[in-house]
Amino acid sequence: MAQNFSLFIAYCNDVIQRQGFRLKYTYLDCLALFGVGGAHPGGLQLTQKILAEENINNDTILLEVGCGTGQTAAYLAQQYSCSVSTLDNSSMMVEKAQQRFSSLGLSIDAKVGDIENLPYPDKHFDIVLSESVISFTNLISTIPELKRVLKPSGRLIAIETILEQTISEEERSQIVDFYSFPQLLTEGEWVKAFRDTEFHRIDVTKYEPRLEQVDEQHAADYSLSETIDDALLEILGKHEEIMHQNKNKLGFRIFRCS
Ligand SMILES: C[S@@+](CC[C@H](N)C(=O)[O-])C[C@H]1O[C@@H](n2cnc3c(N)ncnc32)[C@H](O)[C@@H]1O
Repeated sequence: MAQNFSLFIAYCNDVIQRQGFRLKYTYLDCLALFGVGGAHPGGLQLTQKILAEENINNDTILLEVGCGTGQTAAYLAQQYSCSVSTLDNSSMMVEKAQQRFSSLGLSIDAKVGDIENLPYPDKHFDIVLSESVISFTNLISTIPELKRVLKPSGRLIAIETILEQTISEEERSQIVDFYSFPQLLTEGEWVKAFRDTEFHRIDVTKYEPRLEQVDEQHAADYSLSETIDDALLEILGKHEEIMHQNKNKLGFRIFRCS
């Protein structure tokens, strides 16, 4: 009897936890459920501009980590006919990316996996691309892993969020908690983290979003899940609010590390 009762309590706890988990979406859950393509500062337009400088051709072997719905990977394969592999730790994102690739007839490898433990051999890629992904992961384990899979002549290109100025602990916790950022670093701290992983040359470019500018390709690129909870709209609203409140405190940089 006592055993049945404790099993029942364990079952109830499990249900409550699962219900609670379902209701408590993170910002990244929200991107996955909406299937936002180009979910990084500057969207596809900035991506195209950055990639145009990289001498990519059909011999280039490229990995896009945290590929989301695969907008950039599809562009790369179509524009440059290069070899593209993609990975994301959200199975929903990977499924949406796979749908995109197959509808476009593109042969792009898409895996569910963790950027901190990549399922690729050492020194394999010419370019690793991270578009607003490392900011969401543990830098200390991520950067060495990205370096490991790059050829010695390879480069890492990352578009990431930085802290522009000193903020209060309260402001920091609001940002870090909302995005589940394991860290929020200044430009100098990012550069140090790349240098500590034996990237010797780090070029940094500031990206300043023009809020009034509408990126039409980005605006049109959603792959919605069947059920969209109102709570998700609240999360998107909160994201806009945090970005607006902190527009002088948070910034974006393109790090090119070799
Ligand atoms: C802000 S979104 C950017 C998505 C995509 N790069 C884009 O620009 O549309 C961050 C992405 O990183 C993925 N991600 C977060 N943590 C990850 C991890 N540890 N390993 C792999 N992917 C991760 C999320 O699932 C999400 O798709």
